[in-house]
Amino acid sequence: MSFYHLFYPRQTCLLVASYEGKPNVTTVDWHMPVSAKPPMIAIALNNNSHSLELISHSKEFTLAVLPENMKEMAAQIGSTSGRVIDKIDEYKIALEKGRKVETPIIKQNIGAAECKVVQISYAGDHSIIVGEVVDMHYPDEDSETTPCLYNWGSKTFFGLVRPQPKDNSKEQKKPAPSEGAKEIKGNGTN
Ligand SMILES: Cc1cc2nc3c(=O)[nH]c(=O)nc-3n(C[C@H](O)[C@H](O)[C@H](O)COP(=O)(O)O)c2cc1C
Repeated sequence: MSFYHLFYPRQTCLLVASYEGKPNVTTVDWHMPVSAKPPMIAIALNNNSHSLELISHSKEFTLAVLPENMKEMAAQIGSTSGRVIDKIDEYKIALEKGRKVETPIIKQNIGAAECKVVQISYAGDHSIIVGEVVDMHYPDEDSETTPCLYNWGSKTFFGLVRPQPKDNSKEQKKPAPSEGAKEIKGNGTN
């Protein structure tokens, strides 16, 4: 077991990097938000990855949240390099244009960030890329699709239901804190 297995499960995303009009896609789960104002994301990319090389030239990337039904594709994309095959062609990955960056976005997303690189720093066998989020793509409010999580220890992908009420007006009225307190008091001892 490696130390980082402790920090799983993690959300599996697809990163697109593109330089001189040639996009490449790869699977990443070492990513996290690092700033709210301005919005920023950090990702750790292996120093040998083709994606890192492209990003170091283009200074931008997109990061897409995947629906759970793309788990097999995520596993395949994450086990081959764009240096060896054209993954977008091989796995027939549909892309859509970015709004604020030249780099395209995975079309089958349930949310995505368009990022411009503000910093790349060395971190052992990976490099940390910090990107400012210059545009966001949000899922439809009534989307019931679940994001793809990966658990390294058991090597399984699974979905997680997002709590997303379709119609707030139909939700049951929640008790005010005082009402809730009354309920507890009256429930047994008093
Ligand atoms: C579920 C999963 C998550 C991964 N997460 C990362 C990651 O966060 N950072 C990374 O450098 N590689 C990660 N990888 C490995 C890369 O996707 C893999 O090395 C890929 O071949 C690199 O492709 P590229 O050379 O086209 O960039 C992950 C692989 C899988 C299957």
